Amino acid sequence: MKKNNILQIEKLTHTFANKNDNVKVLENISFELEKGTVLSIIGKSGCGKSTLLRIIAGFLVPTSGRIIINEQEHKKPTKNVLYLQQDYNQLLPWLTVKDNITFPLKHSNLKNVDLDKKAEEMLDLVELTNQKDMYPYQLSGGQKQRVALARVIALNPDLILMDEPFAALDIATREALQKSTREIISKKKNTVLFVTHNINEALYMGDKMLVLSKGAYYIIDNPKVNTTKAILKTLL
Ligand SMILES: Nc1ncnc2c1ncn2[C@@H]1O[C@H](COP(=O)(O)OP(=O)(O)OP(=O)(O)O)[C@@H](O)[C@H]1O
Ligand SMILES: [Mg+2]
Repeated sequence: MKKNNILQIEKLTHTFANKNDNVKVLENISFELEKGTVLSIIGKSGCGKSTLLRIIAGFLVPTSGRIIINEQEHKKPTKNVLYLQQDYNQLLPWLTVKDNITFPLKHSNLKNVDLDKKAEEMLDLVELTNQKDMYPYQLSGGQKQRVALARVIALNPDLILMDEPFAALDIATREALQKSTREIISKKKNTVLFVTHNINEALYMGDKMLVLSKGAYYIIDNPKVNTTKAILKTLL
């Protein structure tokens, strides 16, 4: 593993064994990712994007292959690798915005964290300082998703996994969140795997791209809008 690389996927294969047949979803995937990089993952519905993320999160044991994060094999969920899901109703309804953000910090083993200071920093980052005492039911979908993002970033994980995080939002909110999330990730130098099936979103969010197509995979290291769109047209 190269020095700056935070994630290494080694020969990952996954087959779901069903009653009557086996469904091979991922086959012999290998790649590495440098710290601070956003990798967009794109592919048709059912090609295995969520399965890949669930394996990397440690929710699912792959048929074969290894996930190495920060030089350690990652086999089960840890707070180094956090998952931000599509459904933005993942906040605790009985806690305020501020308390939702600090809740995991309070219950983690992180020592010497000034919770008020951390909350202030995160609220400022996601521009929700004025909403800090509100409850989730008082927020819009986009605001809830920003709270969920702040809560994840506050824990400073090695890797953030996002599975179509904006899919449930209207176009205007989606575009605003793409912009703010991209800015926040860049500012905090987070390493992110970002699943989407929207080509424009994949191009906007990702420094690199992983395309899953017809059982094969392709890494595009430096996606340029026109050439990448042409390539994706043939693959998707
Ligand atoms: N627990 C499971 N048992 C059996 N088959 C599964 C299971 N989970 C997923 N699959 C199958 O694996 C394939 C990939 O599913 P996955 O959810 O990874 O696709 P996806 O690329 O995320 O699709 P989408 O864009 O629709 O979210 C599908 O054919 C699905 O039916
Ligand atoms: Mg999916």
